[in-house]
Amino acid sequence: MNKSQQLDIDACVFDAYGTLFDFNSAASAARDELGNDWQRLSDLWRLKQLQYTWLRGLAQQHADFWNVTGDALDFALATLQIERPGLRDRLMNLYLQLNTYSEVPAMLRELKRRGIKLAILSNGTPAMLAAVVAHSGLEGVFDGVFSVEEVGVYKPHPSVYALAAERLKTAPSRICFLSSNGWDAYSAKAFGFQVIWCNRFGQAPERIPATPDGEIVDLSELPALLKR
Ligand code: LAC
Repeated sequence: MNKSQQLDIDACVFDAYGTLFDFNSAASAARDELGNDWQRLSDLWRLKQLQYTWLRGLAQQHADFWNVTGDALDFALATLQIERPGLRDRLMNLYLQLNTYSEVPAMLRELKRRGIKLAILSNGTPAMLAAVVAHSGLEGVFDGVFSVEEVGVYKPHPSVYALAAERLKTAPSRICFLSSNGWDAYSAKAFGFQVIWCNRFGQAPERIPATPDGEIVDLSELPALLKR
């Protein structure tokens, strides 16, 4: 993306899990109990968590992300036949204290300095999001932390993306949306945001409608892509 292609926007809206906060850090922090299984557990936990959000959306059987995350963890623990007293509660608590990706605080400070509005738009419940934001020391940085609980359905339902535009009082075309989840980035573009896919995990392009405006490997590259 050269200078003439820089995005002209007023706000940046970030996905939470995998984009600002490292969901792998929960299972990783319990390596003393999980041993070599920690990465398999983390992968399966995340995969099932997302599947349950889509299944519940299609079936119109919404349950909040805390419950869905717990259900997915139960499935992953049962699949790997891991049974240890207290481990489930420990992992769920760790999900409230996820690590922040190292480049995030400085990147957010730079965007804020330029007068760009900053928000989170996430499947997480308000309590889960408040916990990770507090843990990251980023309280007061965001102009809004928006949860799908306000609309009662998960991403990529268009009503979720619309919520951020409404609450920021900013047209979708003036918002840059950031997600490390390819399906989230593509769907946000189909909704009408400008989108940069933070492809941290080196995923292949999605085969669903719309293509993000740009792709980066971590968020330190974001400020240079914005005109403002
Ligand atoms: C979120 C998930 C999709 O934060 O990462 O909404």
